[in-house]
Amino acid sequence: MLVLGIETSCDETSAALVADGRTLLSNIIANQLDLHSKYGGVVPEIAARRHTELIGYVINEALDAGEKTLRDVEAVAVTAKQGLVGSLVVGAAAAKTLSYALQVPLIGVHHIEGHIFANLLSNPEIPFPHVCLTVSGGHTLLVYIRDYCQYELLGGTVDDAAGEAFDKIAKFLDLGFPGGPIIDRLAAEGNRKAFAFPRPLLKAKTYYFSFSGLKTAVINAFKHQLARDEALPLEDIAASFQEAVVDVLVAKTMRAAKQREVSAVSVTGGVSANRRLREVFTNICNREGIKVYFPALSLCTDNAAMIAAAGHARLMLNQADDLSLDVIPNVPLEVQYAG
Ligand code: KG4
Ligand code: ZN
Repeated sequence: MLVLGIETSCDETSAALVADGRTLLSNIIANQLDLHSKYGGVVPEIAARRHTELIGYVINEALDAGEKTLRDVEAVAVTAKQGLVGSLVVGAAAAKTLSYALQVPLIGVHHIEGHIFANLLSNPEIPFPHVCLTVSGGHTLLVYIRDYCQYELLGGTVDDAAGEAFDKIAKFLDLGFPGGPIIDRLAAEGNRKAFAFPRPLLKAKTYYFSFSGLKTAVINAFKHQLARDEALPLEDIAASFQEAVVDVLVAKTMRAAKQREVSAVSVTGGVSANRRLREVFTNICNREGIKVYFPALSLCTDNAAMIAAAGHARLMLNQADDLSLDVIPNVPLEVQYAG
């Protein structure tokens, strides 16, 4: 079963071909960083217009790279839930048109379910049940995954998402956008213990996260250095901030893994590309005898391959949509699939 995936929920225009939910034939991602970086974040209207310009070319390229034609496509999966509404609409319109013209099933996918499937696509051997941490620019979610497409929400962020915290700190420090990869690089040169930043909710018994207080602490430390005319050790600030985020993400995920007695942990979403996060998870999981899985780097940030894989799984559960499929900018994963 050849599924064409389409992802336009934020600022990546992406199309991919995945066979049988497992075999990645192509994954084309056109990012729009050049358009948004000067604003320090994604400008929704610019993103939607750019998707409209690019979507046809990106789909063609995915077909060419996979050495397939439209006639080979047996289903179309598209991100329809969670994202910028104007951006989602562009992908949904393209997907509906193709589904209608080719007379093949249409599947609307929840973006977070896509991120979960990015890891299953990279590591099909991940055992169930497992605990999954999804950390991206828009989400920080801890989920117990009983089996394919069966989710129980354990916790999420009460304010900023983990990636959003990276982006906001980078914006404040005037480092560029998106902040995650920049801070990741800077932090590698810095001292993780230089600043004792808070680890919000680390000791709380819940699986909820909060990053806005940490962000304020980093900004205050920066201002303090400036006011005292002291040198600005950006590498140290980056390393200390990153360490605080990593500590909280890892501690809560490991607590959930132990409480739920799972043998595996899955970490996914844009922030799962972070080198220090991977290192700390790997060390602790080795020590605890728990397996940890990360997606291939090309599948960490937004891409259509993960949407095709998730769409295939939903199709196998007979959960295709029809042409009335609507986009919903904000519906939590557990609400979408409640019951
Ligand atoms: O999954 P994604 O592409 O988009 C959303 O669904 O939000 O994630 C993008 C986020 C951005 O906040 C970006 O700064 C962060 O992932 N990110 C990273 C790294 N690479 C991307 N954060 C930390 N370290 C990285 N290496
Ligand atoms: Zn995403």
